[in-house]
Amino acid sequence: MSVRTVLGIETSCDETAAAIVSLAPGGDGRIVSNVVLSQLEEHSAYGGVVPEIAARAHVDALDQVIASAMDQADMQFGDLDAIAVTAGPGLVGGLLVGVMTAKAIAAARGLPLYGVNHLEGHALTAALTDGAAFPYLLLLVSGGHTQLLQVGGLGDYRRLGSTIDDALGEAFDKTAKMLGLPYPGGPAVEKMAAKGDPARFPLPRPLVGKAGCDFSFSGLKSAIRRTAEEIAPLSEKDIADLCASFQATVIGILENRIANALAEISDDQPTALVAAGGVAANQAIRGRLEALCRSSGLPFLAPPPELCTDNAAMIAWTGALKLNAELPGDSDILPRARWPLDETATPVIGHGRKGARA
Ligand code: KG4
Ligand code: ZN
Repeated sequence: MSVRTVLGIETSCDETAAAIVSLAPGGDGRIVSNVVLSQLEEHSAYGGVVPEIAARAHVDALDQVIASAMDQADMQFGDLDAIAVTAGPGLVGGLLVGVMTAKAIAAARGLPLYGVNHLEGHALTAALTDGAAFPYLLLLVSGGHTQLLQVGGLGDYRRLGSTIDDALGEAFDKTAKMLGLPYPGGPAVEKMAAKGDPARFPLPRPLVGKAGCDFSFSGLKSAIRRTAEEIAPLSEKDIADLCASFQATVIGILENRIANALAEISDDQPTALVAAGGVAANQAIRGRLEALCRSSGLPFLAPPPELCTDNAAMIAWTGALKLNAELPGDSDILPRARWPLDETATPVIGHGRKGARA
């Protein structure tokens, strides 16, 4: 087998991204180029992602973002072996922009086209960045999803638990909004939390102590709102203490759910705990999960923060793995707003940052 080189395209939410990843015969992946254009400014005035604005911004930016990825890699379309594009889950308008562009390039160059599940991209990133070996226990925490999955390999995902209401990134974003912090809330809450007292406000920890690996964050969010109203007007210190208390509570919830997941898969021992998705960029969460793993002798892996948040390298990598596994391409892919990673798991209904949740 020769080196496989794949262009990945990601437009499922508010980042327009293109990347080129190569896969060597030995199985090692390399990010040749990785371009991410954030639409932060377009959406920040609204405190969240506006689907129509996102779709329009992808139309305006995608060609240039792909050209930059090709330039930075010093490659032509003729150097590629396949095109991979996020086909869901996500905002359909944005997905359509990526899928149509990918179809056009694939058709013009006669290349195989792979529709990639965005969650699969997050799920497999640690195999690219940290050489994670299967099976691993994955904590997938993003703006639209919160799940614990046993990842057995490409296409092999068993969902152990999922949020029954808000996604964790959404809880960070809503907490930030209630406290007057800028969008996106995750990084802003993390920064304030570093200056605050995590023990000042006891907050509820829904489902903790109960069996299973599901998550619930909406009660926590309501408790933040109530507490903020009670002590208003909020000083800088109040905000920092609320953020620190929120983050510490979240970490407690994650630790409890991960412990249950590890017990549940004890007959199929994972090689590592892997964290992925935008919230996995949080250094406090990473630090505590690392400590938890150290105490139980399990390696902890998390991609570099810029590859935890949305990017196209994870899409190109997943496409390269599919090509390598000789999976057939599909020139007729359609965008899917909902697309669970584990298609056998019971659907979870709700709305996340990217619309309907998988
Ligand atoms: O994976 P991602 O970039 O997009 C989705 O697929 O949703 O995740 C974005 C989410 C947002 O909710 C954002 O607030 C959160 O990840 N996030 C963080 C941090 N950085 C991004 N949450 C907590 N701490 C962070 N440092
Ligand atoms: Zn994502």
